[in-house]
Amino acid sequence: MSEHEHLKWQNFWDEQAKVDDSYQAVRGDKIIPDAVQEYHDRKLVEMLNPEPGDKVLDAGCGVGDQTMLIAGFVNQVTAIDFSPVMAERCGARLKQAGATNATTATADVTSLPYADNTFDKTMCIAVLAYLNPEEVDQAIAELARVTKPDGLLVLHIKDLWSGTGIIVTFGRFLRALIKGRPELEYQYRTHWWYKKKLRLYGMIEESYAYGTWTPFMPKKMMSWIASMEVRHRFFQKRWPHGKEYFIRTRIKNGG
Ligand SMILES: C[S@@+](CC[C@H](N)C(=O)[O-])C[C@H]1O[C@@H](n2cnc3c(N)ncnc32)[C@H](O)[C@@H]1O
Repeated sequence: MSEHEHLKWQNFWDEQAKVDDSYQAVRGDKIIPDAVQEYHDRKLVEMLNPEPGDKVLDAGCGVGDQTMLIAGFVNQVTAIDFSPVMAERCGARLKQAGATNATTATADVTSLPYADNTFDKTMCIAVLAYLNPEEVDQAIAELARVTKPDGLLVLHIKDLWSGTGIIVTFGRFLRALIKGRPELEYQYRTHWWYKKKLRLYGMIEESYAYGTWTPFMPKKMMSWIASMEVRHRFFQKRWPHGKEYFIRTRIKNGG
């Protein structure tokens, strides 16, 4: 990503951090049914397996919903975001919620200001889609470096082959024909693409799904697709890659 693009994303997230509704600030319009969001939270806890003595890094924390969730289980959470406005808002929300074991800082996931092997567990939720391939490499290397050997790294990615991934990508293709490509656009990539990047670290994975806003579909329909992807047996068993994913990696060498 050029410095210009990087700065544009930073500005974008700075502006998002000012959006009143904390959900909308990080995820846009709420089309995800509550049951799916609850599933997401349950899955994150299952994947991260937070334990009372753990020191956890939340990289790309946004307004801190996941930071707060995990802070309830562990000794200490460090939440970072490269948007100073977002990091500040996250800090204010944590304080308001009385999460005294959580701290925030402004930092970039591609260059983390922490020593090797600092954290027992590290999570990076809905962030890598906003990075270019080179930055994804840097981010994965950094997340692995700061996580202890045998520690866990949990990533959440948007899968290109999810129902929503296919719909959004097709919608973008049509829009690009008419209007050209927008300057900033997050990237749906395949699960295999991330798997290749993570192979070095001995990845273990699980899947789940939820919907994403698309301008070409009524919200109710997106919401229905999202629920289907989570609940329906066909999507769970027969279309296992057709989801957004949590990927859990066990760190082998401490980066
Ligand atoms: C979609 S939000 C997700 C926030 C949070 N993880 C969640 O799931 O609620 C993406 C967040 O990643 C942050 N972000 C994007 N690129 C980043 C980078 N290079 N370093 C640190 N944070 C970044 C953005 O500022 C934004 O807060």
